[in-house]
Amino acid sequence: MCGIVGYTGNKPAQEIVIDSLKKLEYRGYDSSGIALHEGEIVFSKKEGPIANLESVLDSSNSKMAIAHTRWATHGVPSDVNSHPHLSNDGKIAVVHNGTIDNYLDIKSSLENEGFNFLSESDTEVIPNLLSKYYEGDLVKAVSKILDEIEGIYTIAAIHVDNPEQIVSVRNETPLVIGLGNEENYVASDIYAILKYTQQIIYPDDHQIVSVSPKDVKVLDQNLNEVKFEVETVEKYTEVAEKGGFEHFMLKEIFEQPKALQDSQTELFVNSPLDNLDLNWKIGSISVVACGTSYHAGLVGKYVIEQLTAIPVSVHYASEFRYAAPVQGVGGLMSSRPLVILISQSGETADTLAAARAAKQQGCHTVAICNVPGSRITREVDGVIITKSGQEIGVAATKTFLTQMQALYALAMHLAFQSGSIDHVMLKNWENELRGIPSKITQLLNSSESIKELVPHISKAKSTFFIGRNINYPLALEGALKLKEISYIHAEGYPAGELKHGPLALLSSDTPVIAIAIQDHTYSKLISNIEEISARSAPVITVAQKGDKQALRVSDHGFELPEVDPVLSPFLVAVFVQLLSYYVAHDLGKSIDKPRNLAKSVTVE
Ligand code: AGP
Repeated sequence: MCGIVGYTGNKPAQEIVIDSLKKLEYRGYDSSGIALHEGEIVFSKKEGPIANLESVLDSSNSKMAIAHTRWATHGVPSDVNSHPHLSNDGKIAVVHNGTIDNYLDIKSSLENEGFNFLSESDTEVIPNLLSKYYEGDLVKAVSKILDEIEGIYTIAAIHVDNPEQIVSVRNETPLVIGLGNEENYVASDIYAILKYTQQIIYPDDHQIVSVSPKDVKVLDQNLNEVKFEVETVEKYTEVAEKGGFEHFMLKEIFEQPKALQDSQTELFVNSPLDNLDLNWKIGSISVVACGTSYHAGLVGKYVIEQLTAIPVSVHYASEFRYAAPVQGVGGLMSSRPLVILISQSGETADTLAAARAAKQQGCHTVAICNVPGSRITREVDGVIITKSGQEIGVAATKTFLTQMQALYALAMHLAFQSGSIDHVMLKNWENELRGIPSKITQLLNSSESIKELVPHISKAKSTFFIGRNINYPLALEGALKLKEISYIHAEGYPAGELKHGPLALLSSDTPVIAIAIQDHTYSKLISNIEEISARSAPVITVAQKGDKQALRVSDHGFELPEVDPVLSPFLVAVFVQLLSYYVAHDLGKSIDKPRNLAKSVTVE
């Protein structure tokens, strides 16, 4: 989705913001642009990759710049719809993430006042509104427009009158200010500026920030100065290289043993769970997330319920935010409900809104997140940080595994606390989890054989993934992975549900990927495979090592390394990731940046 960077300081700004903008490419975008101060406001914007923008840039001495990557919401991807947008007089330039919901009303009243609009973008109302209210002070003008614009936004604006000042404001979307030595940065994503500084300010909604090389001021909407804290954040290892892998996604799949191990150190050595204050009798848990994070939540439900007997409901954040399901679960709230928000990015608009809704209902909120300092980590009562490292591929892989692991650890913690498991059992579980990375390494070492399955899937128009019990969420995740990177239609189903409708779709050109794990549902799943085969649909089964029966009833198969069924989702996940990757690769798709998708979904 859209990204913003800004620089004001003592160095040529163009180079710095273009370099920073490239750090945001992983988020997904369709065009980019830059505005500079060269005595007048100079700007360039281009549809397509940042390289297109670079190809039209002249050298520049400007010491201040704002730049943007756009992910189209209002108006098709095009040069004219790209940011920055300028006021009619060319004196103000604005970049914007988010959406202005009432832009049509504002646009028509500005048109009545004589303003012209060039683009279809909602953003173009902002520079013109600023221009309308500008009386020599851009901060004041920004404070005035906040009463008029509705929506979610991060805005960075510059005015020709001040060659050093960037003014920025946010509402529900991320904004960070990075502090340097006589130079300061503005960004919508901390990754954009971590190369340059680890001193970060996180402004709140509606706080207006005036950033100059030697000075940062944070003001409330009435223009009173507000004190701010400067946080020192960990320097991330920059992930610029694919390390010999063809795609970031493949690299990230192969990084999973390390991601799990690093997260284990965080979970079992630094013990963040002890600081979550979960020491009351928890009556119910709601897990709230989107996409792959939602699937991790579904796996977590099985483990938490199995270990603690606390009922867990799992919700899509986009639904939860508009419902009041927490109080509805058990009627009156007898004890404070726990709401677990899962978001690798910590920025997903729906998950953030859900966190706020949960807090408003008096719930205790805990986030599982991969980005320290991200918005969600700042809004909830407690945080479990996963240590996957930065994930660049749009398809979530290593963050999924570390989210699941965090939920297993949480289940163990709650079970131990409530006396359902003793210290010995707790250590056994911990040891089992510690054994998973090496099993994944074994699987990765045999990944070549997954390629042999590709021809059975890559020509299909439609596919099904089926699983039961704790591997039903993995069927959903397999289907999501395949559809998002290969564009083959895929549905994930609980295996027992096929006969209630989807069987009608099966034929010899509808492959079914079956997850056959030897838990208490195994014999039922084998029967489901036989029902599918009887309809001539080819079955590709992923089974545990040595499971001859599952492989016998299937057309093709893959054996996982030996694993306890309750831990099998970690290995099944790696299998479905690799299978999807190899199919998408065979089809020549844009694996790291699938069409229409973005890494962080910061709009509703
Ligand atoms: C999965 O491959 C997708 N990238 C997507 O479903 C993602 O998991 C979802 O948008 C949630 O993102 P989050 O974890 O950053 O909140």
